[in-house]
Amino acid sequence: MFARAIPPEVFARRRRALMEQMGPNSVALLAAAPEAPRNRDVYYPYRQDSDFYYLTGFPEPDAIAALIPGAEPEFLLFCRDRDPQMEIWHGRRAGPEGAKERYGADHAHPIGQIDNILLPLLENRERIFYPIGYRPDFDAKVMGWLNQTRAKSRTGVQAPTIFIALEHLLHPMRRCKDVEEIAVMRESANIACAAHYRAMQICQPGMMEYEIEAEFFHTFLRNGAGWSYPAIVAGGDNSCILHYTENNAELRDGDILLIDAGAELDGYASDITRTFPINGRFSGEQRVIYELVLAAQQAAIDKVRPGCHFNEPHDAAVRVLTEGLIELGLLQGDVDAVIKAERYKQFYMHRTGHWLGMDVHDVGSYKIGEDWQVFEPGMVTTVEPGLYFPASGQMIDECWAQLGIHLKTDLEERWQRIGVRIEDDVLVTDGEPEVLTAAAPKTIDDIEAVMRR
Ligand code: GLY
Ligand code: MN
Ligand code: MN
Repeated sequence: MFARAIPPEVFARRRRALMEQMGPNSVALLAAAPEAPRNRDVYYPYRQDSDFYYLTGFPEPDAIAALIPGAEPEFLLFCRDRDPQMEIWHGRRAGPEGAKERYGADHAHPIGQIDNILLPLLENRERIFYPIGYRPDFDAKVMGWLNQTRAKSRTGVQAPTIFIALEHLLHPMRRCKDVEEIAVMRESANIACAAHYRAMQICQPGMMEYEIEAEFFHTFLRNGAGWSYPAIVAGGDNSCILHYTENNAELRDGDILLIDAGAELDGYASDITRTFPINGRFSGEQRVIYELVLAAQQAAIDKVRPGCHFNEPHDAAVRVLTEGLIELGLLQGDVDAVIKAERYKQFYMHRTGHWLGMDVHDVGSYKIGEDWQVFEPGMVTTVEPGLYFPASGQMIDECWAQLGIHLKTDLEERWQRIGVRIEDDVLVTDGEPEVLTAAAPKTIDDIEAVMRR
């Protein structure tokens, strides 16, 4: 699945860092992602579990890792055995030998032997760290091991009594990217930028949304990457559907095209949105909206700095957007009052960013108690304000009404069918915010220049 740009010693370093935090007399257990059936005997392309991959680099299903801190910390890997018949049909397997040689396992065994080998290791151990509650099958397995250990209590064996969600230690580690991760994320971002550039170059009225989507696949695959989430290729009114993925409409002259598409390289996501006119020239209203979203995005990016907290980019974007909407006559009232009443949500109903890493909506908490997480160097967040002006119609009005948002129904037609989002991936550094996705054209001049034929 992954090409392994990150060397084995980095995975070893992460395991050590985790085990140092776990303390003595504990064990961490993690399972590989299961294979996912698609239809009959066809499976979805395999994607390893992010936590498991972060600590092991091991790309196969049917595997369980155990990490045991101590004077001599141990990494045990239980995995599929070598099997010539299965390997002829379905592909190579590392097997326990490969797990030791190539993935740094101190001990490796066939997965079928896990009960025999792991159970004695759980005896008299106080604490188990594992991803509690994410996988019913793995929960059941761990509880099964626990009960088998408890069953030996009359022989003097003590079973673990403290269960700790592994994410408590692991996800703060994943939220701050190490230099190797940043290098891969830069590359993932570059590949996605190249795809957005190509989309701008080839887009013409009359094409279908899926023809543009195909260009993303083309660029991702020929660079050894895949997609990090299903691409959103949304022309005209579809640009106002935040997670539109049908991608099957014709692109019309005069309409806007919103593309939210990112690559996944070696398990690391990029997440970019660009919005541009299908015919290569922004109309008056499209231009006004676009400039406003861009100004909001710039104000938000400026807040991605150490010392600022996670919500500051959102607050900055909301203020710029609200001021602009009032200036355009699309909202009425005093800026602070409109923000307090959240009336901007009619046109901007999502938040301005999320952590980015192995998962596109990456792990890591956003608040510590009552307080927003403060940015630290190595964190990566998206910055993605937008404004959405769907064609008015009963269906959409009812949708928003259900959400308690009452549309300004007398929106002039010239504003309608315009959805603009601009999304970049931003690394927190000691100094200026680093936009990893800066190579995707973003200013109106740059976009129109790329699209000029
Ligand atoms: N592509 C999903 C998001 O922007 O959050
Ligand atoms: Mn995003
Ligand atoms: Mn996105």
